[in-house]
Amino acid sequence: MPKHGTNRKPGAATRAIHLGYEPSEFRGALTMPMFLTSTYAFETAQQGAGIFAGEEPGYVYGRTKNPTQELLEIRMASLENAEAGLASASGIAAITTTIFTHAKAGDTILVDQVIYGCTFAFFAREITEFGVTTKFVDMTDLNAVEDAMKSEPRMVFFETPSNPNMRMIDIEAISHMARKVGAMVVVDNTFATPIIQRPLELGADLVVHSATKFLGGHGDLLGGIVCGSSELVNPIRGRGLRVLTGATISPFNAFQILRGLKTLKLRVDAHSQSAQLVAENLAKSEKTTSVIYPTLPDYPQKALAKKQMGDQGGAIIAVRFDGGAEAGHRFINALEMIKCAVSLGDAETLVQHPASMTHSIYTPEERATFGIDDDLLRIAVGLEEVEDLNADINNALSQV
Ligand SMILES: Cc1ncc(COP(=O)(O)O)c(C=O)c1O
Repeated sequence: MPKHGTNRKPGAATRAIHLGYEPSEFRGALTMPMFLTSTYAFETAQQGAGIFAGEEPGYVYGRTKNPTQELLEIRMASLENAEAGLASASGIAAITTTIFTHAKAGDTILVDQVIYGCTFAFFAREITEFGVTTKFVDMTDLNAVEDAMKSEPRMVFFETPSNPNMRMIDIEAISHMARKVGAMVVVDNTFATPIIQRPLELGADLVVHSATKFLGGHGDLLGGIVCGSSELVNPIRGRGLRVLTGATISPFNAFQILRGLKTLKLRVDAHSQSAQLVAENLAKSEKTTSVIYPTLPDYPQKALAKKQMGDQGGAIIAVRFDGGAEAGHRFINALEMIKCAVSLGDAETLVQHPASMTHSIYTPEERATFGIDDDLLRIAVGLEEVEDLNADINNALSQV
């Protein structure tokens, strides 16, 4: 990228638009074309052997790398301040290929107890079938984490803010503890995005995303990505994608996510601004008993939120109603514009009931133990005019 004669690193929005692409190399096409090809022809047998051996640059076969996918990986790695990135078919594919590649039978993985439901199921019920032990820890309690480190884990996994209840996990403190016992820290940064929070700068080893959410940004695709050092990311491409799962992203989805990245900063800023106003509006209603949003004055982990996320809270709000789950359901059903749907990071504002939807894969006992309460709703604020959102919300609140 041109630096205009200065050493200034271009900002995130600029890199998301320009980094790694020169139109003159692609017949002047302003936008990186989509490469719909499953395999690549070598000029000679010797060149093919050289590319296979990694001694020459080039592409081999679509399961491991495609030029459209590669540009997405370059841009996401840059946004996360990472050396390398690897895109995959979904967020869950990014997580499972990472864990399958780096964990082996006999290893222990420490996992925060409040995470996205399918990720929880993978750690609680699937990876354990392969001889890996999972220990669930309340990672908001650093003493409990320190204690769990005595089991000499191979990896530590958490989301921050956590899905669905917006707890904050201290990336720097936990990465420091993990380094002392040689454990690898993997952070799911889906909720914050690299615009708000960059876990690698705070000491984490790998960052994973559901690109289905803010990175794509329009609710029309599935995708995932993992970013970190080449030493940790390259084996995931070789084992996780090429051999173990084949969960490669399609060139079309990579193309759409590249388009999403061009407006990521604009969208995340707008999501955060609107979410703040929606959270304030919900908090002043007598119908709600608690509104959990990182930049509200009564957010319980304010200092940590400020340290990791700065002044932006992101799009997600957790809210409880006077009258419990029943009141929450009445609120959802009374909304007119806001849709009841899982997912987040879309232009449309979405609301859902985690206990019966995204986190229904936890048993009722697990939800009770881990604090995923029946009366909690998750709102993913979209990009509509905030006055329209609050009008819809206030009308629904009047019916609760
Ligand atoms: C925080 C988080 N991580 C990962 C995932 C899984 O992503 P995907 O649905 O793209 O597989 C989700 C999905 O909702 C999520 O919310």
